[in-house]
Amino acid sequence: MNLEALLAARLAPALDGADPAVRRSPHADYQSGAALPLARTLGRAPRDIAADLVARADLGGLATAEVSGPGFVNLTVADELIAAVLTELAGDARLGVPRVEHPQTVIVDYSGPNAAKELTVGHLRSTVIGDAAARILEWLGHDVVRANHLGDWGTSFGMLIEYLLEHPGGTYLDARTLFASSPEFQERSRLRVVKMQAGDEETLDLWRKLVAGTKDQLLTAYQRLGVTLTGGDFAGESSYHDQLAPVVAELEAKGLLTESDGALCAWPAGFVSREGGPLPLIVRKSDGGFGYAATDLAALRHRTLSVGATRLLYVVGSPQRTHFEMVFAVARAAGWLPESVSAEHVEFGSVLGADGKMFRSRSGDAVPLAALLDEAVTRAAVLNPDPAVAAAVGIGAVKYADLGADRRSGYVFDWDRMLALTGNTGPYLQYAYARISSILDKGGAFTAGVTLGEPAERALALELLAFEPVVTGVAQSLEFHRLAAYLYGLAALFNTFHQQCPVLRAAPGVRESRLTLCLVAARTLRRGLDLLGIASPARL
Ligand code: ARG
Repeated sequence: MNLEALLAARLAPALDGADPAVRRSPHADYQSGAALPLARTLGRAPRDIAADLVARADLGGLATAEVSGPGFVNLTVADELIAAVLTELAGDARLGVPRVEHPQTVIVDYSGPNAAKELTVGHLRSTVIGDAAARILEWLGHDVVRANHLGDWGTSFGMLIEYLLEHPGGTYLDARTLFASSPEFQERSRLRVVKMQAGDEETLDLWRKLVAGTKDQLLTAYQRLGVTLTGGDFAGESSYHDQLAPVVAELEAKGLLTESDGALCAWPAGFVSREGGPLPLIVRKSDGGFGYAATDLAALRHRTLSVGATRLLYVVGSPQRTHFEMVFAVARAAGWLPESVSAEHVEFGSVLGADGKMFRSRSGDAVPLAALLDEAVTRAAVLNPDPAVAAAVGIGAVKYADLGADRRSGYVFDWDRMLALTGNTGPYLQYAYARISSILDKGGAFTAGVTLGEPAERALALELLAFEPVVTGVAQSLEFHRLAAYLYGLAALFNTFHQQCPVLRAAPGVRESRLTLCLVAARTLRRGLDLLGIASPARL
């Protein structure tokens, strides 16, 4: 049972249909903000309305209410209610978070690296954030389809294949170096893409080998990262190849395209170029080739019309904001994105170095992801040399640093901060979990039941009851830093409780009650970390 909903239901009859607006609050157990918007519509003082609400609401002994500040109603929940709900949670494997009644088919488009290139720190964010989205929605009971929109069909492949035909065993970097300096090689690379897309066997042969190699490497990286993407989730750009011409033809038939300098373009309303004119979305280039936008339109159409998805998530960096806004606008106009379907660009900022610029290695190159993870594990081994534990802590620290900050802003990659044992970090949460696990191990079997005495018990219990609205809210907003902040707050409350309230040495009765608190806290931390894709070893 969710206390927020329970209290709201109690206030509702005294509000004539207005929103009870009950939330957790730093000023009280819960707070209702109902009076403030009502004051505007009713033209009365908010404190008067709040006082009315306090007088009229029948809280049935579940809580006491009092007016506070400019017109809030502070709610203090009865200890017996907290204890009863917590005891109930101890017997609920889902920790009070029900599966949704109406599951949606949700496509989570994430990771999607450009396949010819080595995986770098630049791919970390989409992979980690997208996986958290897939995990949380799946746990809530939605039908989640993971889509790894691998860049496996574009110019960089033409370049690499052209290079490898001449220099077997060459690398992507070598190819790029030549590409940068030789217009002749640039032209041959472009022609190679055309050959590839036209089905030239020699080219496709090499292409298949390259893509297969890339996929193997990616799957190894995902496994190491604890990311749930599998081989079956690859839906690379090449898989939409056959649909590109029909998609463009359909857009043309719907009158959505006009020619501009030989290219076919859509002109969704409201997008302005740097020069102040209308901004085109190029769906067919002047050389007849189809680009990134055409592929995304084909993918979107497939996802709504064939897969039947009702929520589309694109976990891609902020620089692509305009691209997705335009793709969504064109798709709406084409009828591929009905009102009942939401399309969301789950955007994020960059990983930054200490200088506030893009995070790079000393040599100025993008940092390879494998090397980054190696370093994370090496550094974590200082905390615990056991290889499995070091991997869980090191990789968990990297992922937590990524998910713990508002995704829209970039974050500074800082080893010392992310591996610190205090503060809002992965290791801090993992250590809290391990500490609780060890208490539970020593505690042996017990019958769950809660009675609250100490303030630290009460504070921990109250916070444990707030898991459900946090998870539900994050599934909507995909603001994972809110789940992270909740878990951090919970771990901190647990640590205070642990300092002030002996568990194993407590008197019979109190001991069981405190073990029950430990049990629910452990499960909540473990589940929360798992939703973020972070391991929680029982022993550290
Ligand atoms: N490969 C693209 C890039 O590296 C990201 C793909 C994102 N997904 C999509 N449907 N466009 O920029």
